[in-house]
Amino acid sequence: MARFFGAAAALAATASALTPEQFLSLPKRGVASANPAGTVAVFTTSQYSFETHKSKAVWQLLDLNTGNITDSGFSASDVNEIAWLPGTETGIIYINGTNDEVPGGVTLWIGDILRPSESKLVASLDAPFNGLKVAKTPSGDLHYLVNTLAYPNGTAYNPETAVTARTTARFYENIYTRHWDTWLTKQRYAVFGGSLPSNSSYSVTKPVLRNLLQGVNYTVTRPETPVQPFGGSGDYDISPDGSTYAFLTKATHLSKANFTASYIYLGPFDGSAPAVAINGPDSEAAKAGHEGASSVPTFSPDSSKLAYVQQDEDFYESDRLQLYVVDVKLEGSSVATSNWKALTATWDRWVESVQWAPDSKSIFTTGEDHALEKAYNIPIDGTLGGAPKNLTGLTSVAGVSVLPDSSLLVSASAIWTSRDYYIVSANGTKKDLFSSTTTDKALASLGPHLVSEIYTPSSPGFDQEIQSIVTLPSNFSSNKTYPLAFIIHGGPQGSNPIGWGSRWNTQVWADQGYVVVAPNPAGSTGFGQELTDRIQGNWGSYPYEDLVLAWNYVKENLSYVDTDNGIAAGASYGGYMTNWIQGQPLGREFKALVTHDGISNTLGAYGTEELWFIDHDYNGTVTTTDPNSAYTKWNPFNHIANFSTPQFIIHNSLDYRLPESDGLALFNVLQIKGVPSRFLNFPDENHWVLNPENSFFWHTEIFNWINHYSKGTPLDSEPIGE
Ligand SMILES: *[C@@H]1O[C@H](CO)[C@@H](O)[C@H](O)[C@H]1NC(C)=O
Ligand SMILES: *[C@@H]1O[C@H](CO)[C@@H](O)[C@H](O)[C@H]1NC(C)=O
Ligand SMILES: *[C@@H]1O[C@H](CO)[C@@H](O)[C@H](O)[C@H]1NC(C)=O
Ligand SMILES: *[C@@H]1O[C@H](CO)[C@@H](O)[C@H](O)[C@H]1NC(C)=O
Ligand SMILES: *[C@@H]1O[C@H](CO)[C@@H](O)[C@H](O)[C@H]1NC(C)=O
Ligand SMILES: *[C@@H]1O[C@H](CO)[C@@H](O)[C@H](O)[C@H]1NC(C)=O
Ligand SMILES: *[C@@H]1O[C@H](CO)[C@@H](O)[C@H](O)[C@H]1NC(C)=O
Ligand SMILES: *[C@@H]1O[C@H](CO)[C@@H](O)[C@H](O)[C@H]1NC(C)=O
Ligand SMILES: *[C@@H]1O[C@H](CO)[C@@H](O)[C@H](O)[C@H]1NC(C)=O
Ligand SMILES: *[C@@H]1O[C@H](CO)[C@@H](O)[C@H](O)[C@H]1NC(C)=O
Ligand SMILES: *[C@@H]1O[C@H](CO)[C@@H](O)[C@H](O)[C@H]1NC(C)=O
Ligand SMILES: *[C@@H]1O[C@H](CO)[C@@H](O)[C@H](O)[C@H]1NC(C)=O
Repeated sequence: MARFFGAAAALAATASALTPEQFLSLPKRGVASANPAGTVAVFTTSQYSFETHKSKAVWQLLDLNTGNITDSGFSASDVNEIAWLPGTETGIIYINGTNDEVPGGVTLWIGDILRPSESKLVASLDAPFNGLKVAKTPSGDLHYLVNTLAYPNGTAYNPETAVTARTTARFYENIYTRHWDTWLTKQRYAVFGGSLPSNSSYSVTKPVLRNLLQGVNYTVTRPETPVQPFGGSGDYDISPDGSTYAFLTKATHLSKANFTASYIYLGPFDGSAPAVAINGPDSEAAKAGHEGASSVPTFSPDSSKLAYVQQDEDFYESDRLQLYVVDVKLEGSSVATSNWKALTATWDRWVESVQWAPDSKSIFTTGEDHALEKAYNIPIDGTLGGAPKNLTGLTSVAGVSVLPDSSLLVSASAIWTSRDYYIVSANGTKKDLFSSTTTDKALASLGPHLVSEIYTPSSPGFDQEIQSIVTLPSNFSSNKTYPLAFIIHGGPQGSNPIGWGSRWNTQVWADQGYVVVAPNPAGSTGFGQELTDRIQGNWGSYPYEDLVLAWNYVKENLSYVDTDNGIAAGASYGGYMTNWIQGQPLGREFKALVTHDGISNTLGAYGTEELWFIDHDYNGTVTTTDPNSAYTKWNPFNHIANFSTPQFIIHNSLDYRLPESDGLALFNVLQIKGVPSRFLNFPDENHWVLNPENSFFWHTEIFNWINHYSKGTPLDSEPIGE
């Protein structure tokens, strides 16, 4: 049975569908950050217009009493980042993206969020610094951290003023030539520290910024913070008293294409000694078996402790993320640590963020559970037995902000809302402040009554059932049937969430007139590490079997789903799985397939940059001589003889994780075999399609394809032919 998350309220038949254009023109509201007094929160809202073909972004204010949202008067095209000024009610310090003196530089300003015209310029920075974090010292000085690219000698790099090379050559002598969508240069990201003295009332200064990574020695990998491509200011922190900083950087003695390991470094802000790793080789953490990637180093409000997250394995990016805490004390020029403690060893879930409670005695975290990102509170005395209680329910948390009374301002989403803001109090009461579903007209028909979960049998060897998230069209009528859209997620260590998808949005697919079934098979996260780890060496077996069992269930038990005219689609690992399905019996059950940036040839997949990923997931390197290796067993190209279902392939040029040659090879094979197929490429997109105009084209052409093969609507003549 499908378990629905809400009862149908309105007359469904009058509901209007969410079109790709409406979806892409919705306001995108960021995570709200509450001021220290807990009265108001600030967030960005950006919105794309298909009339002006431009995006507009503003900083908005959320009144935490009334839920009222107003424009702050600060434009997000002017102001890149805003941080609350410690020790004030509504004071802010922000990064202004323009610098009148230094092209390509930025400026720091101090002001008040309620008085946008009264800001004061306090510092001119000569490179595009970002990731501002600020602390106030007992004497009143402001100590801040920012990051940007730096030359090997440590000096900040400003691309606008830098000397341009006379050749475009890229020249390498070890692996990791490029990553995500960027070729490596000699520059690396670094964290810089700067000060604004209170004795001059923070008046304009030409600050001397110190590169905090200088002095960290390396044998193989040069230190770099934030870790690219997704690292940001969460990769470093400054103690609230301004005395100490922390950052993480990848293991300096290991090759970064092969390993995921990274360690937390601590150092005195005054620069009297270089930063030292606290959980590197030979540390207490390493001796206890915790040797993987570190994340979110975060000082306690009283500056006496540091919390951070680390994985155990040094080349597995989807190992369990566990929470640690350690006492820190600045003694002369060295930062002493003691009383190191593991806090979540008994909890079979991932700790994905860290926010301290105001009393420095517990930590708020977020982590995924059954397709929902939930918030939790973890005591720091190490007494958590089993799993903590979730503080949030049926929405996926995007971020939290801790209020002075220990309640949480939550920014969340669900399949039926692109953004909700609400407050969860320590006593468990929830106060709703805002929901996009009631504000944004295009979302008016959506609700939890359109979303349900089903549980179906697992492939052998796993003793829980497999969850799938089912999304109905917004004008769903129980008297009708709708073709199946079977959406397979990427990762493979990831999930189909009950959250708002900004790229793969199940409601937008459903509103083309499908019932979307989005399974979470072997390899998925949020169900415990055993299900996640099951996929190692088994890309084509357990997940495929789980999908077949889920499909069988839908065919037999969901009367409103027409599986005879179904389609399957997926990106990344979901693209690989779609290609795998093309060669297997399940492939014959679909009218059309859609593959976005997926592997078609496992040997060709070694063109990736993240070797740690494929070495782990295929359980060995491509140089293996084992004729039964995962490379051979699970290669979609070993089943070309069966390829016969019409397939739409998208593969982007800036995808360095899964190079476009895989999509092209698949397209060529299908064309040679006479299987109807189309190839879509965006030269300026990476693994994702982010530009709204490109995304509109992506949706239009994919929907044109599946609607043709599923429902017989005409195929357009947009593609370039002979
Ligand atoms: C639901 O909306 C789709 C797309 O707008 C339309 O084709 C279909 O007829 C509608 N179904 C019902 C039951 O109103
Ligand atoms: C919300 O703010 C607007 C603009 O300041 C104001 O007109 C309105 O009365 C406020 N509403 C509430 C409920 O406070
Ligand atoms: C940002 O800097 C520019 C250039 O100095 C200035 O004209 C503008 O007023 C500043 N905006 C804010 C919000 O500080
Ligand atoms: C660091 O190197 C850059 C690029 O070669 C150069 O412009 C800069 O002056 C150097 N900085 C120092 C402190 O030598
Ligand atoms: C102001 O404070 C800074 C940092 O604390 C100090 O280096 C500087 O000498 C002080 N300047 C004056 C004029 O007192
Ligand atoms: C880095 O290496 C230099 C030269 O061997 C040495 O003097 C220095 O102490 C080392 N720094 C650290 C933090 O180990
Ligand atoms: C990368 O890993 C492979 C397999 O473990 C190993 O053969 C190779 O030497 C490693 N390369 C580096 C630079 O660490
Ligand atoms: C915790 O999660 C469960 C399952 O998703 C939900 O039913 C429950 O309401 C949540 N608890 C709170 C306090 O939101
Ligand atoms: C729960 O806590 C909030 C905030 O502290 C308070 O406003 C509310 O009255 C409390 N509710 C109950 C039932 O105690
Ligand atoms: C379904 O069909 C029955 C019988 O024709 C009708 O009474 C009912 O109103 C229909 N329900 C919906 C939701 O259209
Ligand atoms: C991975 O390889 C190791 C040794 O090569 C082997 O013991 C293990 O069973 C393999 N695991 C899987 C899932 O294939
Ligand atoms: C359909 O549902 C029934 C009842 O839950 C279950 O016993 C049966 O196995 C399901 N069919 C399939 C193919 O999963």
